Amino acid sequence: MVPAPGRGPAASPGRKIPGRGGGSRVRLREATTAPAASEETITPTGPAPVTIRPAVLDDGPALALLDHRTWSWTVSPVSRWPADAEFFTDPAETRDVTVAEADGQVVGYVRVRPAMRLDSAAHVQEVAGLAVAPEAQGRGVGRRLLDAARSVAVERGARRLTLRVLSTNVRARALYAAAGYQVEGVLKEHFLLDGRYVDDVLMALDLT
Ligand SMILES: CC(C)(COP(=O)(O)OP(=O)(O)OC[C@H]1O[C@@H](n2cnc3c(N)ncnc32)[C@H](O)[C@@H]1OP(=O)(O)O)[C@@H](O)C(=O)NCCC(=O)NCCS
Repeated sequence: MVPAPGRGPAASPGRKIPGRGGGSRVRLREATTAPAASEETITPTGPAPVTIRPAVLDDGPALALLDHRTWSWTVSPVSRWPADAEFFTDPAETRDVTVAEADGQVVGYVRVRPAMRLDSAAHVQEVAGLAVAPEAQGRGVGRRLLDAARSVAVERGARRLTLRVLSTNVRARALYAAAGYQVEGVLKEHFLLDGRYVDDVLMALDLT
């Protein structure tokens, strides 16, 4: 994804990819950002319920740490930001961020914002940051955050939800494809990352 203004890896094409989780079941309590306040069970899992909710300013430090922990050149074209970086440079930015919380801890987030500051593109929102803590990955949290992102875009009247992902980010690409995003273009060798040329893949979800 394209880096968000003033931000690094979180808002860019993803991060590192630990193994899938497994085991018991996890209940997801979906909160205010997603339209239907419901509780559901998915597998595979982890021990704690996960709540999906809008971000608040106080989430900033945990979100910066999440960016820091999930960064790698495999998933991000932007250098690693420090763990104590400012996540929100303006309080108004919180409106674009939805977080996943488990046991009172932020374990994931997604950022949705207008794709362009143009009236003629007001119908297009973009996913400009997605991350799930390594210990919470492979349990459906990323998918739930993408569902929340879709809800946010629909509530804003969008017809399209776009994103950019590095070709090397196999896990994120699989997640997006499973969520219905389609590849609309590839910017060949768009980045030189860790000595290797990497494609930037443009994907979009039709909301009509
Ligand atoms: C990409 C990321 C957000 C996925 O979050 P997650 O919570 O692990 O994803 P989920 O558990 O919801 O998995 C949903 C789908 O992702 C894909 N997926 C998940 N783990 C995978 C793996 N190990 N290998 C391949 N695909 C995988 C599958 O399509 C999966 O669907 P399934 O469960 O029906 O098989 C997470 O790995 C992450 O934070 N990565 C680092 C940051 C990053 O890459 N962000 C994206 C930037 S573009």
